Amino acid sequence: MKPKQSGILVCLVVAAMMFQYCSKSDTAAVAPTTPTLTQTVVTTVASPLLPGVPFNYSNAVFPAHVASVLPAVDNTPATNPITDNGATLGRVLFYDKNLSKSNTVSCASCHNPELSFSDSAVKSVGFAGGRTDRHSMPILNVRFYRSGKMFWDERANTLEEQVLQPIQNTTEMGMTLAELQEKLPALSYYPALFEKAFGTKQVTADRISRALSQFVRSIVTCQSKYDQVKQGTATFTTDERDGETLFLTAGPNGGGTCAGCHAPPMFLTSNPTGPFALNDPLDLGINNQRRFKSSSLRNIANTAPYFHNGSIASLQNMLAGNIPAHSVGPQDRQKLLAFLLTLTDNVTIKEEKFSNPFK
Ligand code: HEC
Ligand code: HEC
Repeated sequence: MKPKQSGILVCLVVAAMMFQYCSKSDTAAVAPTTPTLTQTVVTTVASPLLPGVPFNYSNAVFPAHVASVLPAVDNTPATNPITDNGATLGRVLFYDKNLSKSNTVSCASCHNPELSFSDSAVKSVGFAGGRTDRHSMPILNVRFYRSGKMFWDERANTLEEQVLQPIQNTTEMGMTLAELQEKLPALSYYPALFEKAFGTKQVTADRISRALSQFVRSIVTCQSKYDQVKQGTATFTTDERDGETLFLTAGPNGGGTCAGCHAPPMFLTSNPTGPFALNDPLDLGINNQRRFKSSSLRNIANTAPYFHNGSIASLQNMLAGNIPAHSVGPQDRQKLLAFLLTLTDNVTIKEEKFSNPFK
């Protein structure tokens, strides 16, 4: 076998092992059942295709280097633990365009799974063609943000509070909660999904919020090359390893280390060591302090453009661009980039349990 071929084979074997590791508890899920043809109400989309036994969301298995940090940073409230039926309902809501006034926009329109639940547009397009004020955020590993505060400016105190806001946003989805509570029960598939998730068919804003939050919290990426290296099933190249050292120890442009603000293993921290502001006179961010939240840097290769205003087109531009705390000398750029690219997990984002059930 030629060296290149064997390299590919090793990658495939490792990928297969990883897949098994993170999803082994999914094997109980059966193949999707035939959809029930109950089109008594006019819906703009077909009924969702769901497995007879729900996927496993509640008991996901994380590798040790991820599982060990979760208890200290988990923002899951005691009142809303992830359940399989709750997250299943959340998945349907997340992909349902009926959550918008025009029936044209779902959460996934701006948080596209193929782009690691982010958007390639600098500003996303809402239900009536308007543009959002800021760049969309990748919805990954949200559960690991200790303070639980959401949005670039952290204006939502919890995820439960956050998920109802795009629905009511006059640019994004344009609904009122009263309209939503009337619209969803009339869609054939919802009463049974609410009953399974919450015990009765009643559709309330609180239940919508809880189900969406459960689904969003369940999206955790832990099958990247970085994770394989931490588990001893792969090794970094020299550049990747040097890049990790730089990430952990270097303080570019006099700021703190990269890791101080983007803490491994999820490359996320709600307690950054220092202020950071991209020069943006139009947006003052958290408490008007010219500070912003950063999402998880995992899958960063898939989520361009970057920063709250989407003004940084590529990671190369960021590293070379004179941005406070983010630009490094020419000798370090390739190494840091090589390391950042190891954080991409293309397996999780394609898992069926996170995919669009309306197709
Ligand atoms: C029209 C585009 C659009 C739609 C539709 C949309 N979002 Fe977003 N989302 C955004 C933008 C833009 C931001 C960042 C806004 C800000 O910080 O001011 C964001 C931020 C978020 C965040 C914060 C992430 C973090 O780490 O702080 C979450 C969670 C989220 N959206 C979930 C959802 C859910 C759930 C839905 C559906 C109910 C949804 N979004 C619908 C564009 C959209
Ligand atoms: C003082 C804290 C701090 C330091 C140090 C820091 N960052 Fe950041 N980083 C942030 C904040 C805050 C944002 C989001 C800022 C915004 O949108 O205006 C961000 C954004 C990013 C983004 C874009 C994220 C996205 O989803 O758009 C990348 C990539 C990134 N940082 C990588 C790095 C690297 C690599 C280093 C080290 C060279 C580093 N950061 C150092 C705080 C920091």
